[in-house]
Amino acid sequence: MVVTRATETPSELWPAPAKLNLFLRVTGKSSSGYHDLQTLFQILNWGDELSISINHSGNITRSCNLKDLSEAEDISVKAARMLKSCCDIRMGADIVLNKRIPMGAGLGGGSSDAATVLVALNSLWSCGLTSPQLAELGLQLGADVPVFVHGCSAWAEGRGEKLQAVSLGSRHYVLVFPGLHVSTAGVFNHAALKRDSKPLEIQLSRLAPGRNDCEIPVFAMYPELKRIKQEASHWGQVYMTGTGSTLFLPFDSEKSAIKAAGELKCRYNVRAVEGVDRSPLLDRLSFEG
Ligand code: C5P
Repeated sequence: MVVTRATETPSELWPAPAKLNLFLRVTGKSSSGYHDLQTLFQILNWGDELSISINHSGNITRSCNLKDLSEAEDISVKAARMLKSCCDIRMGADIVLNKRIPMGAGLGGGSSDAATVLVALNSLWSCGLTSPQLAELGLQLGADVPVFVHGCSAWAEGRGEKLQAVSLGSRHYVLVFPGLHVSTAGVFNHAALKRDSKPLEIQLSRLAPGRNDCEIPVFAMYPELKRIKQEASHWGQVYMTGTGSTLFLPFDSEKSAIKAAGELKCRYNVRAVEGVDRSPLLDRLSFEG
């Protein structure tokens, strides 16, 4: 006889992984005011964590381990409200956000939190939206939300929402956090930003890190970041993700990444992480059924 324990409840925890832009080219500016990009998104197996439970009061509440992220500014709250209104849901949700991804760091933390809320509440509230529908909603909140909704490392174009999943295999990186909060809008509005990079043809066999067009304006705004990049290059090739400020170094193995992180941590705040093709959010969703 199979005994089901009625007290067994599924975990309320949902992962919100960080991302890297392995390269980033700005190929133009559209009439919407947004820039056209080509980028290679690498999903990481490290990030924020959200506890999400539904309530019957209809309220959306949020608490967070960081005091300086107000509920009003938090796009994960905006995501919950947007989904509730779009699907005419009466229930509410209580969100507890455990932030580990630094903000203004080019790692997509806020966008990933919002994507996790959309994916989790779509399931918990039984909204029945498809991934493309959730991604379309998410795009209204930020250009990086769709990649986290789809949950795959991907080649991206447009604002970052035209996605083609790629297989990068397991890769290893050391992240260097300079502790600078960079304004994405400030970088895209900067006079030094090159906006006419030649579009590349996607080459699935050569998905390597490369140039980031945002480095020039970011280094003009934060010269210390350029100095850190030069210093860290003693340990390997150094790249910048998104509009910064995080720098990253790719390594062939976990062992070499951990070794380099051990040496770099005397100077900087660093973390060794693994790149994955499939987001831990998708694994969590399959567990939900
Ligand atoms: O979408 P997200 O909130 O990340 O963008 C912040 C700002 O960065 C936008 O308001 C826009 O000024 C700029 N941006 C852009 N082109 C992109 C992405 C962002 O001009 N592809």
